[in-house]
Amino acid sequence: MQKFIKKIVSYLWPFTKEVSSKINGTLEVTWMNGKKVLDSQNANYSYGSLQKLLTYGLTKIEIPTTSEILLLGLGGGSIIHSLRNKFNHQGKITAIEIDEVVIKIAKDEFNITHNHNLEINCEDAFSYIGQCKKQFEIIIIDIFIDNQVPKQFYQNTFWKNLIPLVKVDGYVVFNAGINVIENSAIKHLKSLVKPDIDFIQYNQVQGTNTLLIGKKYSNILPNDTVESLSF
Ligand SMILES: C[S@@+](CC[C@H](N)C(=O)[O-])C[C@H]1O[C@@H](n2cnc3c(N)ncnc32)[C@H](O)[C@@H]1O
Repeated sequence: MQKFIKKIVSYLWPFTKEVSSKINGTLEVTWMNGKKVLDSQNANYSYGSLQKLLTYGLTKIEIPTTSEILLLGLGGGSIIHSLRNKFNHQGKITAIEIDEVVIKIAKDEFNITHNHNLEINCEDAFSYIGQCKKQFEIIIIDIFIDNQVPKQFYQNTFWKNLIPLVKVDGYVVFNAGINVIENSAIKHLKSLVKPDIDFIQYNQVQGTNTLLIGKKYSNILPNDTVESLSF
């Protein structure tokens, strides 16, 4: 069926294509109400609530038009759409994605392709951060396997390697998990990154997710803040 017809029919009958991945299990590309989304078995990966909550997070920071952004977790690339179309971001984005099946879905289903301003690397973000020598104005961490953030992305090694990659006055936006408000790993992480980064915690974003958003300071230590949001 042609794309236009699929879009119209999807207002009446959503339809889903399943794609199997060794890393992410069964992924679903679904046309619903004229829009295509990417889901894992228990979570939206792209173009649904995930895109809304990350877009919300990005309204909390400054995004210079030509800034360099590192995105860990490409999924279907929905936040790249938001950056380009809603925030008018035109600078280079480097996206790191562990699953080649997901990279193919991003390309074939959502038209997200490697080009001069979008570098897509099929790699484990943990290893990438361990050997990367570049700095970025903004780092977005959006790494999930189904509805879980893998443990190593809360831990010392990852953050000790990541902090030097953020430019002073740059930002980190971490989609820190689903229903994890009182999570001890998050509490530990917030103290671990101080004084370099002082995270503000946004809870129940899109009803479920916790976002940590912080600016990299050179030498000041602002007070810790917790903000609770429900919308
Ligand atoms: C929620 S999706 C990302 C959605 C994407 N940020 C967007 O805007 O549409 C989470 C992604 O993290 C990827 N991922 C999981 N573990 C990873 C790892 N160790 N390194 C890189 N990517 C990983 C998954 O394959 C999945 O595509």
